[in-house]
This record gives sequence, C-alpha cells and structure tokens, in this order.
Amino acid sequence: MNDALRSLVRETELSPKDFIAPLFVCPGKNVRNEISSMPGVFQLSIDQTVKECGDVYGLGIPAVILFGIPEHKDEMGSEAYDESGIVQRAIRAVKKEVPELIVITDVCLCEYTSHGHCGIVRDGEIVNDESIELLAKEALTHAQAGADMIAPSDMFDGRVQAIRQTLDSNDFQTIPIMSYAAKYASGFYGPFREAAQSTPQFGDRRSHQMDPANSDEALREVEQDIAEGADIVMVKPALSYLDIIRRVKDRFAMPTAAYNVSGEYSMIKAAAQNGWIDEEKIMMEVLTSIKRAGADLILTYFAKAAAKILQAR
Ligand code: PBG
Repeated sequence: MNDALRSLVRETELSPKDFIAPLFVCPGKNVRNEISSMPGVFQLSIDQTVKECGDVYGLGIPAVILFGIPEHKDEMGSEAYDESGIVQRAIRAVKKEVPELIVITDVCLCEYTSHGHCGIVRDGEIVNDESIELLAKEALTHAQAGADMIAPSDMFDGRVQAIRQTLDSNDFQTIPIMSYAAKYASGFYGPFREAAQSTPQFGDRRSHQMDPANSDEALREVEQDIAEGADIVMVKPALSYLDIIRRVKDRFAMPTAAYNVSGEYSMIKAAAQNGWIDEEKIMMEVLTSIKRAGADLILTYFAKAAAKILQAR
C-alpha cells in the first residue's frame, strides 16, 4: 500500500553505475552540434568531449563509449587506425583530464570509410578477413592512446580473436574486449547514422549483422565471441531484443551489456515532444526493463538524464 513496502520487495534497481554514455567526437574546437534526430545528443569537439566526460563522471556514471567523426573519409577508412585520428586524440585528452572515467572505444570502420561500410569493399562485397586486420590495427591504436576497453561493433567473423591476439602481442593483455556479439541488422540505427555520418552508400549490413527473426543464432554468435576472448558480450538493439538479452544471460552467465540504441531514444524523444507520453516515466521504465531482462550494463543516450533522476532519489 505504500512506497516503502514496494521498495522493500522491488527486484530490479537501476543505478548510474549500470550506464555507459555514448559520445560522438568531431573535429574542430568548441563545437556542440546537436543531432536533429536525437534531441539532447551532440557531436562534440575534443575540448567539449572532455567537458562532457567530466559531467558524466560527476553523475556517477563509470564509463563512456567514444565514436569518431573523422576529418576525411576514404575507401580504406584510414583515419580509424591513425595514431593521431580523432578518437585517438580524444582518448588522450579525456584520460588526462578525467583519468578515473573508463574510456571504451567503438571499433569499426563505417564512420571512416567513404562508402560507409564497416570494412574493405571489393567488387561490391565486404571482405571479411582483410577487414579484421584493420580493425585489430584500430583497436591497437586505441589501446596505445590509453583506452580502457575495446568494443568491436562490426560483426565480422573472427574479429574478437584478431583483436585479442594483436592486443596481447603488444603488451595490452589487461585491456578487456566488450564485443557487440548479437548485433541485429536493425532499422533502429537510423538516427545514429545521421550522428556518425555512417550510412552505407549502397547495399546494407545484412551480410554480417543478424536477422531480427533469429534467436538461436544469437546464442551461436555470442558463444563464438566468448570462445575468441570476449570479456563482456553485448546484445543490440535492446528493446525489441529483451528476449535475446535474457537467453544470453541465462545461457552464458557472462557480464552482459545491452545497447539502448539511437532509434529507441529518438522515438521516446519525439513522442514526448508531441506531449503524447511522459518522457521521464518511460525512460526509467525502459531502462528498468532492460536491466530486468538480464543486462548488467546499458549503453544509453539517456545515461545523464537517468543518472540525475537516480541521484535526486
Ligand atoms: C557502427 C555502429 C552502429 C551503432 C553502433 N556502432 C551503427 C551500424 O551498425 O550501422 C548504432 C548505435 C545506435 O543506433 O545508437 N557499426
């Protein structure tokens, strides 16, 4: 009959410590460029990224994941594995100013290639094995810049092992890998592709990302990444895939992350702006449901807003 009793028997409790805040780093100085399809989310220059990281850490959120918007894109996505690339410079700046904040880096080529695909394209096809060599190179430059954890989001076969071997043989044995293990070819990534300017110029990602109709396949994908050395496994998106989060958690008992992706964020923002839903209530309900489904960690654009509410409670 009252709040105290209900909280006594509550099974799922959110904490700012559950969150990882995604940030988009762009060239320039003093840039805060709001993404039109993601109100409240910005492309930030390195100085602004550092400032944002201070705010995130101050709210009790332990980690960020960085995405880079490079100065130049090319066929091979070369800024992705350039030691003075946008993300590499951002890592150094953030680790200098907010050393306790865990800096995770998204490892993929799609933000860096002129064609917007996650790897090398030859004769209209994405080449798996050569692409994972470049991803391993990218991961190494992130580790050398001071990244605390590597998160490959490409979904190519064998990339976790390639990254693990490269890190290990360069004295980065202690850097963990959070793999986007069950990542679906989803319509929910639309606003992200505006934010990261990574829309494929032809074709799509269905040759390597998963079919939304499949669930057993997700377990095989996760199993493979664990065998290759993943320390944390991720399911992405979150909301249409709560059943997958639960199956992965039950089956493998691994630290499990879920990515509450851009489209999931934008739908709530848009409906709230229209006055159709209560934004705060739905945000907390959605995040609670992701944790209840089995996620230990939630990557979410709501990280700061939700942390503020939790702190105030
Ligand atoms: C890069 C990547 C994507 C997202 C995270 N990493 C987009 C994609 O695969 O096209 C999506 C995140 C979001 O929608 O919030 N491969």
